[in-house]
Amino acid sequence: MDQTPHTLPRQSWTFSNEINSEIRRAAATGIYDIRGGGAKRRVPHFDDLLFLGASISRYPLEGYREKCDTSVVLGTRFAKKPIELKIPITIAGMSFGALSAHAKEALGRGATMAGTSTTTGDGGMTNEERGHSEKLVYQYLPSRYGMNPDDLRRADAIEIVVGQGAKPGGGGMLLGQKITERVAKMRNLPMGIDQRSACRHPDWTGPDDLEIKILELREITGWEKPIYIKIGGARPYYDTALAVKAGADVVVLDGMQGGTAATQDVFIEHVGQPTLACIRPAVKALQDLGMHRKVQLVVSGGIRTGADVAKALALGADAVAIGTAALVALGDNDPRWEDEYQKLGTTAGAYDDWHEGRDPAGITTQDPELMTRLNPVDAGRRLRNYLAVMTLECQTIARACGKSHVHNLEPEDLCALTVEAAAMAGVPLAGTSWIPGQGGY
Ligand SMILES: Cc1cc2nc3c(=O)[nH]c(=O)nc-3n(C[C@H](O)[C@H](O)[C@H](O)COP(=O)(O)O)c2cc1C
Repeated sequence: MDQTPHTLPRQSWTFSNEINSEIRRAAATGIYDIRGGGAKRRVPHFDDLLFLGASISRYPLEGYREKCDTSVVLGTRFAKKPIELKIPITIAGMSFGALSAHAKEALGRGATMAGTSTTTGDGGMTNEERGHSEKLVYQYLPSRYGMNPDDLRRADAIEIVVGQGAKPGGGGMLLGQKITERVAKMRNLPMGIDQRSACRHPDWTGPDDLEIKILELREITGWEKPIYIKIGGARPYYDTALAVKAGADVVVLDGMQGGTAATQDVFIEHVGQPTLACIRPAVKALQDLGMHRKVQLVVSGGIRTGADVAKALALGADAVAIGTAALVALGDNDPRWEDEYQKLGTTAGAYDDWHEGRDPAGITTQDPELMTRLNPVDAGRRLRNYLAVMTLECQTIARACGKSHVHNLEPEDLCALTVEAAAMAGVPLAGTSWIPGQGGY
């Protein structure tokens, strides 16, 4: 009898089953993997931070009697008409084309009821969206898809998109199956043909051009509208400083967990810095220029709860923007469609083939039948509820830290659970007074 002790065959960490399966998929098809959503890998995030709360050395506010303000004004630097929001959470730019017209309408309804703004996207402004959004930010993108000077004037603010957290340095995609007659007409491109969005502005060779562009946009709109600049989390210190120098009223900073409608998986997972790592360098750039709170900072990329909002604000942001979470609130990835997710070879919670246009929840589609599954009134109400809950959560935390405005939250209210998060957020490791990585950016 064989007496040799047997060990289980060893699975390689480098060549894991998941990696091998991707190699086989690539070998069989010869095409790279495209998907929607943000980075799926675990990176340091807001969950790695904790609030300290009040005790003897800090005095908490009483929830029923003492006010904790959540309002925020964006665009106080140059714009004649800054945007006033009741809550520090905005809806990020998501294109009509990627999203159905019903989904855009629902976002507008929900945001308006909650007292906040929503944003157009790569593909222009729809009437449904303008009509249902009390405050609408109009994106000015490298692709110029759907770009229309009249819509610039119909908007409440303009966001020049330089980059996105899911793909800094890259452009998006919209596959032919989502290019219906209406989408094609708005983008001035043929129906049914895959579209790639440009990765840089056509009239752009460097930061000086951004300054000229901002001036042009201000002239067209009579210096009324705040001009935001959206950057992906690449080099947040320098990009923020350059955006401020170019004349931005607001900087929108989108970290690597930020969602996208469609791009290469390799891009989503391997390019850009985690949201948590981007905030302090951007705030430092604003502080070094004497512009913190004068040029507002909006942070996005993986924001899900009121705690995430409070943590982003404590690190120095003025507001946050949400994309994926807003879609989930509308009904995306809802287990009620599980049978249909299974037929698409996926499961609720993991569905990310948003580019294919077959979304059972009727959100990331242009299919006329699927679209009708989303009732914009009900979905708008769900979004409103979700925004209200997040705001209350953020407020509760701020009160517990003794703050009468959510903007008074500060890094001193936080500690970190890991050395990495402590270094990235610039707050002490829990149980110590040690802040690692203070060597600069
Ligand atoms: C379906 C979808 C479509 C998007 N379309 C655009 C777009 O047209 N322009 C843009 O700047 N960002 C776009 N984004 C990115 C969002 O504006 C935002 O940066 C990101 O979703 C924030 O991260 P979060 O999804 O984790 O909240 C899109 C995101 C999603 C999920």
